[in-house]
Amino acid sequence: MINTRKAAVIGCGFVGASIAFSLMQRGLFSEIVLLDVDRDKAEGEAMDLSHGLPYTAAISIYAGDYDDVADCALIVVTAGANQKPGETRLDLIGKNVSILRSIVPELSRRGCEGILMIVSNPVDILTYAAWKLSGFPAHRVIGSGTVLDTARLKYLLGEHLQVDSRSVHAFVIGEHGDSELAVWSGANISGIPLTHFCELRGYFDHQASMQKIYEDVRDSAYEIIQRKGATYYGIAMAVARIAESILRDEHAVMPISVLLAGEYGLRDLCLSVPTIVGKNGAQKVLEIPLSDEEAAALHASAAQLGEVIAGLKL
Ligand code: NAD
Ligand code: LAC
Repeated sequence: MINTRKAAVIGCGFVGASIAFSLMQRGLFSEIVLLDVDRDKAEGEAMDLSHGLPYTAAISIYAGDYDDVADCALIVVTAGANQKPGETRLDLIGKNVSILRSIVPELSRRGCEGILMIVSNPVDILTYAAWKLSGFPAHRVIGSGTVLDTARLKYLLGEHLQVDSRSVHAFVIGEHGDSELAVWSGANISGIPLTHFCELRGYFDHQASMQKIYEDVRDSAYEIIQRKGATYYGIAMAVARIAESILRDEHAVMPISVLLAGEYGLRDLCLSVPTIVGKNGAQKVLEIPLSDEEAAALHASAAQLGEVIAGLKL
């Protein structure tokens, strides 16, 4: 049986602790279990977060074990190594697949029926691995994908165009990583095509501006890691937003990482494309229009992930 008001965060480092904080602030759950291979760390985070309870909604946050995770509606996995300056997300694969191998069977063994959301990197590869290792239906195994990168794109476009980033409609899709792409062809500001809006603001050098903004989005994590060692607040807010759409069965469209089964001519890998997100996790993968160049970039991103997956023994 699922407890719809209960979530678990597995891995309580920078990202896990920030996600717990963000979920707590949103008041979506009445119970949050924190689990880490370093039990003291999970306990310390639970204590610290609990000291904010007099100033937020009633919620129980505690360090637990896998038996406590069994009935959670949402299980967020952030366990694993993060990138050191200069490392790519794909460089983490060896360490983090083996950590995932120690986590996912614990969930399957207990018959978990909640949504499993992978955040650890490389997120697309680990989402695919988690789906394979768990035996769960594909709609219940998702990755945070390019929801964060899409937020970065909206933020940078909002700054560039001096408009509220929530009025910017645009997606980053593909790998959450170096081969991702921005879908410029469909980008708009509340229905006004992006290039028209740029001209309204006095910008005419579309190609150069789009390339610069794309590179800034793609390289955001490297820039942050170089300065402060890790990224965690942005991803925490992205995960809380995905959690909200699941918990409230909103059917929001978000570029989460999902198993593709023929959409965009791709199959048997996970990557991010706009998907309807609701109480069952990935409700429907949407095939949005792409220019020829964007479709080719998506296929190139998928080919890179496909090669990595082919090298995994799952
Ligand atoms: P961190 O080193 O601060 O925390 C990792 C935590 O995982 C540690 O507390 C560690 O004890 C724990 N852990 C390790 N093995 C475990 C296991 N078997 N079971 C339970 N816990 C275990 O790292 P971080 O900065 O929090 O990053 C965590 C992961 O999130 C990294 O892989 C990072 O690349 C990824 N990340 C993803 C995104 C995204 O957008 N998807 C954004 C930021 C970070
Ligand atoms: C990010 C992580 C590192 O912030 O994947 O994009």
